[in-house]
Amino acid sequence: MSKVAVVYWSSTGNTESMANAVADGAKAAGAEVSVFETADFDAAKVDGFDAIAFGCPAMGDEVLEEDEFEPMFSSCEAKLSGKKIGLFGSYGWGDGEWMHNWEDKCREDGALLVSDGVICQEEPDDEAVEKCKELGKALA
Ligand SMILES: Cc1cc2nc3c(=O)[nH]c(=O)nc-3n(C[C@H](O)[C@H](O)[C@H](O)COP(=O)(O)O)c2cc1C
Repeated sequence: MSKVAVVYWSSTGNTESMANAVADGAKAAGAEVSVFETADFDAAKVDGFDAIAFGCPAMGDEVLEEDEFEPMFSSCEAKLSGKKIGLFGSYGWGDGEWMHNWEDKCREDGALLVSDGVICQEEPDDEAVEKCKELGKALA
């Protein structure tokens, strides 16, 4: 059984809803799934999973959340080469630039992105929830 981690940061709950849908999709596909808020995950945990979904909304000016998520993610980057990774997150008024930059960074790290990052504006609608579930399945 493949082990999948879903690691997310969320302030108002939109990315958290996406994380739960990613986890549901991975579970439905037969994976053993662990869901972590940002503070509960670090680089030492990366090797314990076959695949990891990282979720973070667009914050600051089209960047990852800088106080908690970005430092945690940066600390994991050295261990992402060859690892199956999925990205997701909610945004407000932008055009998804934060996600494109994040995808590029993961590719530079040698991570194996299983799909394009899943993004949705504010709260995920049914279509976005479905895309999150598909991401979970792809990681399982
Ligand atoms: C401080 C702050 C900065 C933000 N910066 C951006 C941004 O650069 N681009 C964007 O599209 N949305 C931005 N947003 C909107 C959030 O990404 C959006 O509300 C998202 O749904 C929040 O996700 P969450 O509910 O998981 O916290 C920002 C929101 C806050 C509070």
